[in-house]
Amino acid sequence: MMPRMGYRLFRPCSWALRQRNSYFLVLLTLLVLITALYILSSLEMSPRTFSTHSTAKTLDAKTLEPPKTHQPKRKSTKTTPRRREDRVLFVASSNPYKETLKQSVSTLLQGHRLNVVVRWAKNVAEDPESLARYAAVIFEGSDLYSRYLKYVEGRSIGIVVFPNSNPLRRVASVEFLPKTNSAFIVKTTNSTALRILKANHKINLKSEIAPLKFISSKSDFELLANGLLSSGDYVPVAMAAKSVAFLGCTSMTSWFWKTLLLDVLYHVTSGALGFSLRRRILIDIDDIFVAPYGTKIKPDDVTAMINFQDRMRKRIPGFKFNLGFSANFYEKSSVDLEIEGDREIVKEAHHFWWFGHIFSHGQAHTYKSAEKLEEQMQKNLEFSKKHNISVGGTHYSVAPHHSGVYPVYPLLYDTWKSVWQIEVTTTEEYPHLRPDYKRRGFVYRGIKVLPRQTCTLYTKTYTFATYPGGKTRFHDTVRGELFNTILNTPISIFMTHVGNYGNDRLSLRLFEEAFGFIHAHTNLQLSTVPPKQLAEEYFRLFPKEATLPLWTNPCDDPRHKEIWATPVDCSQFPDFVVVGPQKTGTTALHSFLRLHPRIKSNANHPKHFEELQFFHSSDYEKGVEYYMSFFPRKNSGDVVSVFEKSATYFDSSVTPERMLQLLPKAKIIVILSDPGRRAYSWYQHQRAHNIEAALENSFSQVLKANRSCPSKACSLRERCLVPGLYAEHLERWLNYYDPSKIYLIDGNQLVDAPIEVMNSLQKYLGVPLVDYDTLIRYDEEKGFYCEARDVTRTKCLGTGKGRKYPELDDESSKYVASYYREPNNKLRELLTKRNWPIPNWLE
Ligand code: A3P
Repeated sequence: MMPRMGYRLFRPCSWALRQRNSYFLVLLTLLVLITALYILSSLEMSPRTFSTHSTAKTLDAKTLEPPKTHQPKRKSTKTTPRRREDRVLFVASSNPYKETLKQSVSTLLQGHRLNVVVRWAKNVAEDPESLARYAAVIFEGSDLYSRYLKYVEGRSIGIVVFPNSNPLRRVASVEFLPKTNSAFIVKTTNSTALRILKANHKINLKSEIAPLKFISSKSDFELLANGLLSSGDYVPVAMAAKSVAFLGCTSMTSWFWKTLLLDVLYHVTSGALGFSLRRRILIDIDDIFVAPYGTKIKPDDVTAMINFQDRMRKRIPGFKFNLGFSANFYEKSSVDLEIEGDREIVKEAHHFWWFGHIFSHGQAHTYKSAEKLEEQMQKNLEFSKKHNISVGGTHYSVAPHHSGVYPVYPLLYDTWKSVWQIEVTTTEEYPHLRPDYKRRGFVYRGIKVLPRQTCTLYTKTYTFATYPGGKTRFHDTVRGELFNTILNTPISIFMTHVGNYGNDRLSLRLFEEAFGFIHAHTNLQLSTVPPKQLAEEYFRLFPKEATLPLWTNPCDDPRHKEIWATPVDCSQFPDFVVVGPQKTGTTALHSFLRLHPRIKSNANHPKHFEELQFFHSSDYEKGVEYYMSFFPRKNSGDVVSVFEKSATYFDSSVTPERMLQLLPKAKIIVILSDPGRRAYSWYQHQRAHNIEAALENSFSQVLKANRSCPSKACSLRERCLVPGLYAEHLERWLNYYDPSKIYLIDGNQLVDAPIEVMNSLQKYLGVPLVDYDTLIRYDEEKGFYCEARDVTRTKCLGTGKGRKYPELDDESSKYVASYYREPNNKLRELLTKRNWPIPNWLE
């Protein structure tokens, strides 16, 4: 399928032309004309097939999603049965000089929410077939490309190459890209290299898919990058290619390379990777009355803001500022004109959107009662009514210092809803302030929380003269940080402060320059809609985020700790978690661990006793404080290690990710016993609990219950068999936790030789060693090891653990053996690969 030509971020510019002085311009035009004539005389020109404006209009005008036709229809290949993922693989050479390229490319792609994986060449060599799993592969070096070409060629995989540029001449002589469907983007002054390249690739600019027009000198490149050179066919040819080489590009630092690379990736994957060209922009002025006296807005500034809106609306449909207010600061200034400024903006309120803050601009988490918080919001509401400020439409608010939004303070959410009918808010703090491109949205108590962006102007930046880093840094911001944010983020809600709208109106200056630059150099289409609509669009675009936040540990982020509602004791988190699976001896392990004098576990849960089952249950919504409340403080007494055991975690799909976010340093303990035996034990457990399906069906009947799903017997079958697919579940844990954090215990060994198991486990956990020989003893009657109370007495687990029931029948035994044959082979493979010991029952 041919990719859609209309999609193109990069836009050759005529706008910047007008910004330069005309003398320079005339000279330049002459220069360009001469160059063009020279090129024309030496090469055949390709027909100009693409028009930036007309093609850009083919994009879906109503939504932010790329038009459906952009979605790739990938050919299925018989040779690559594995699942294709919409991920980009960066195959990194081991050359340390290439660190900049690797890092800058992966930062750019992550910023653009592309799922990028960086792998060293030597790791790819172990499994080159895995290349076929990616939507696009970027090779660092033409040698790597040549080596792995056969694994990606003809498989609908987008290919990007950054050939080693030194020496370019040598690179140019290598036939590293196929002659069809390929393009080069060249930045070089090396004419010999270009000559070789042209000769080797028999460039025919007439063909539809031709090498990109060479940018043959540094100055040409700079002119193009500055938008001073009409680029004609530079980019479209690259857009039609399936393989693109970037010559002479060693780092993604310039906006020019960034735009081109994103464009190229979009096109080489037929639109699978990247966003549409539409970008929503909303500029909040967080607190319109709050700034130190002498820096607040005056009546003229209000006029400038209204004029700015009118001007911007020509390029940014719907553009309007969104003003937050804390009414307690209204008309408060020692400067008369600033008091006038407050009155003026209120008089002109209808030009803007408005949202209420907390009346005294206090931090939400410091209000300990609902009444106090409510009172603050009510007062602000009364102010808006008195002054005829319409706040009803936005259903939006933000919290001073993000307090209460994240980390969440439930009282804020509830009061917002009851007083202001808030449906949308924003924060920079989820999951963390930095890196900014990893900020995400979530939904909590029915309020949609969107990520919020900064624009490099903060509460204390008031004038151009005091801008940190000066004039140069200001302009760099426009092309750098601000440009990146808008390039990479389909919906940007910027935080700005009133001080930067007074004085020399730095904010207006910054955004005018940024929007002008974007308009000049890209085909991005900016527009503004009210917050409620933005939120709807955001979660349509990123539906996976329309859920609870992944709780993070407030102690891992000083900013979060500061706005935490109650004093936090960072020791109240488990150091290790026994994750199961069920029926592998988890209760026995739990009881043995509790015999250790320096190890403590959580308090009992009202429903599931020793198991909290927090991460996958509805309790998760109750949040971090709720979870912490079950654990003892380590600081008191001589506790060295705290743990939790919930056997349901092992096969829960959501738990590993959630646990990693909250307990990134935790060690994960897994018990693996024969999965067939485990399945039978679960069945017997259900019988003992009078579960209908288990009472009415023999184990063998349950195993065969697959045809009539969903039925009680069928779901029992699932619970019997699925947790035993050990490799599958372990792989999921390994997606989140480093293998060194995962410790496997052989379930059979736990039954037969628990003293050895406990001694090794203590070493792994790094706790003071106690001799378990003195703590546990084999109990003949129970047939298991039990706590040694004294020389004669033991305390064993209850009747529900180590039950007596008939042996597994032959038919079921055969069934489970065959059911687990493949999964067990996979497990063996996985364990061998990771150098983990193979349990006895698996040998
Ligand atoms: P059975 O009751 O089917 O024999 P869990 O605690 O994870 O639910 O696992 C229960 C299983 O732990 C028991 O299954 C039993 O085989 C095993 N187990 C291992 N060590 C044990 C011990 N010391 N006492 C009792 N059961 C033990």
